[in-house]
Amino acid sequence: MMHISIYLNILIASAELTLSVPTPEQKSTSDSPPLLLVSFDGFRADYLKKYSFPNLEKFFADGVLVHELTNVFTTKTFPNHYSLVTGLYAESHGMVASIMYDSASKKHFSIQNDSDPFWWNEATPIWVSVEESGFKAASAMWPGTDVKIQNHPLNYTFDYNYRVTFQERLGNLTQWMIADKTVKFASLYWEEPDRSGHLYGPENSTAMSHVLKEVDNYIGFLVKHLFDVGLWEKINVIITSDHGMAQCSKERLIKLDECINSSSYTLVDMSPLTAIVPLENISEVYKNLSSCNSHMKVYLKGNLPDRLHYKHNDRIQPVLLLADEGWTIVKNGTLPRLGDHGYDNTLPSMHPFLAAHGPAFRKDYKMSSFNSVDLYPLMCHLLGIPPKPNNGSFAHVRCVLVNEQCGELALAVGVVLGVLILLTTFSCLFWLMKNRNVSSPRPFARLQLDDDADDEPLLE
Ligand SMILES: *[C@@H]1O[C@H](CO)[C@@H](O)[C@H](O)[C@H]1NC(C)=O
Ligand SMILES: *[C@@H]1O[C@H](CO)[C@@H](O)[C@H](O)[C@H]1NC(C)=O
Ligand SMILES: *[C@@H]1O[C@H](CO)[C@@H](O)[C@H](O)[C@H]1NC(C)=O
Ligand SMILES: *[C@@H]1O[C@H](CO)[C@@H](O)[C@H](O)[C@H]1NC(C)=O
Ligand SMILES: *[C@@H]1O[C@H](CO)[C@@H](O)[C@H](O)[C@H]1NC(C)=O
Ligand SMILES: *[C@@H]1O[C@H](CO)[C@@H](O)[C@H](O)[C@H]1NC(C)=O
Ligand SMILES: *[C@@H]1O[C@H](CO)[C@@H](O)[C@H](O)[C@H]1NC(C)=O
Ligand SMILES: *[C@@H]1O[C@H](CO)[C@@H](O)[C@H](O)[C@H]1NC(C)=O
Ligand SMILES: *[C@@H]1O[C@H](CO)[C@@H](O)[C@H](O)[C@H]1NC(C)=O
Ligand SMILES: [Zn+2]
Repeated sequence: MMHISIYLNILIASAELTLSVPTPEQKSTSDSPPLLLVSFDGFRADYLKKYSFPNLEKFFADGVLVHELTNVFTTKTFPNHYSLVTGLYAESHGMVASIMYDSASKKHFSIQNDSDPFWWNEATPIWVSVEESGFKAASAMWPGTDVKIQNHPLNYTFDYNYRVTFQERLGNLTQWMIADKTVKFASLYWEEPDRSGHLYGPENSTAMSHVLKEVDNYIGFLVKHLFDVGLWEKINVIITSDHGMAQCSKERLIKLDECINSSSYTLVDMSPLTAIVPLENISEVYKNLSSCNSHMKVYLKGNLPDRLHYKHNDRIQPVLLLADEGWTIVKNGTLPRLGDHGYDNTLPSMHPFLAAHGPAFRKDYKMSSFNSVDLYPLMCHLLGIPPKPNNGSFAHVRCVLVNEQCGELALAVGVVLGVLILLTTFSCLFWLMKNRNVSSPRPFARLQLDDDADDEPLLE
């Protein structure tokens, strides 16, 4: 019955996408529960398969798990954290890298010097929209929340300081949420497992199991703390991340000094997406770099594949070098770190995961993947605020919500359509068999329906 299942699966998938059953009525913002968005930096999706997470598993057993998020290129921290809260690709929100240079204003951006609103103002993060809707936002160290973006400082925020513990970040956030009921959106950032992934490499299972156990303990602490302060089950909680981590090696080094005179260009950003400004002859720089190493692709600005959505911004430099997974581009040195990210966003090693829990979410619901830009329209829906123009799609994600009738009705429509198509197929088959040329023994062998009892997800 394999073919029937395939038909049904396709139909149900298309029905889930197209069949937009109107929700009873859109709740207004004042009714909708607050939302807490948590990011554990560099939490690679498949850590979930390789390590044990008793607390995280309890969290999503009673909620939603999305195994993999397709994040945005370049798979770096600032671009992806800004995509999560704007629903935009990097070229559209302007946070195109964690190190940037703007040739018109001659300004420099780095993670250590990130507070000039100039770099952030090309997009409107969700906390600005929350405040424009008359509510308040709070944050503990989420990138950009200590910046006066579009002249909207958050009502409750911290200055970035990595020394502040997870417990203090969370404790102060919930204090604000409890004291001020108009706080609708809170975000929390934590530096691990990114830091350990860079330092030890994601394949060092001793180091990674240690830090991932710590991260899981923080999730346990979060659930217990929300319970203790009376917010558990009252607010919606999303736990996710910005990107994954790939293993690097000193055997996979690309040295630019071996290919090109270093006084012929300025280096803006290093690896694995190297941003270069040629000083005199761009075609010579491009030509020499193009033949440098087969594990590094060289692009002129505007020539990156469309799927990367990484062209249309002044902050993207004239020449870009992109290393293959696990390769590191250096000028002329040694391997700087054992793990890195920033590679092609189609690589599974670059993908984070997402888990959600709360009154808006289904229980024990699993999804294989969606795009990280789809989170923004989902969060706007949860908060009842109008989304700004974005690159995400609510239709892709709405099935995680308990109020969206997509499972049952789509299934029913799928079954009906599937049976119709099956009947048509059988009629055609029957008609063809009746009229077939007797001399050819099995002209329609490929159409024979296998009896594969294992593959009947809908008929169990
Ligand atoms: C930080 O950025 C600002 C504005 O982009 C710039 O004027 C300043 O020189 C930078 N500071 C450092 C230490 O790089
Ligand atoms: C805090 O919120 C109030 C009301 O929304 C707003 O008028 C005020 O400017 C905010 N203050 C800060 C420091 O963000
Ligand atoms: C957290 O809140 C406590 C108590 O209000 C305060 O003393 C502390 O400075 C806050 N922490 C940070 C990092 O702002
Ligand atoms: C793995 O990380 C640990 C620290 O947790 C370190 O002591 C060990 O040398 C690392 N192993 C390898 C193979 O790098
Ligand atoms: C690269 O570094 C090595 C050792 O530090 C040095 O001998 C060599 O000249 C350098 N190459 C270039 C092209 O600068
Ligand atoms: C480019 O390669 C050519 C041929 O190897 C060399 O003569 C030239 O100096 C190189 N240009 C730069 C900028 O390195
Ligand atoms: C690199 O370029 C500079 C400036 O054009 C030149 O003076 C120098 O000789 C070049 N070095 C090499 C190794 O070609
Ligand atoms: C720039 O480099 C290209 C390729 O190496 C060469 O054909 C061209 O003559 C150079 N142009 C100038 C202005 O030097
Ligand atoms: C992403 O969304 C922005 C804002 O609507 C739009 O300008 C841009 O063209 C979109 N990008 C793509 C690839 O659709
Ligand atoms: Zn990161």
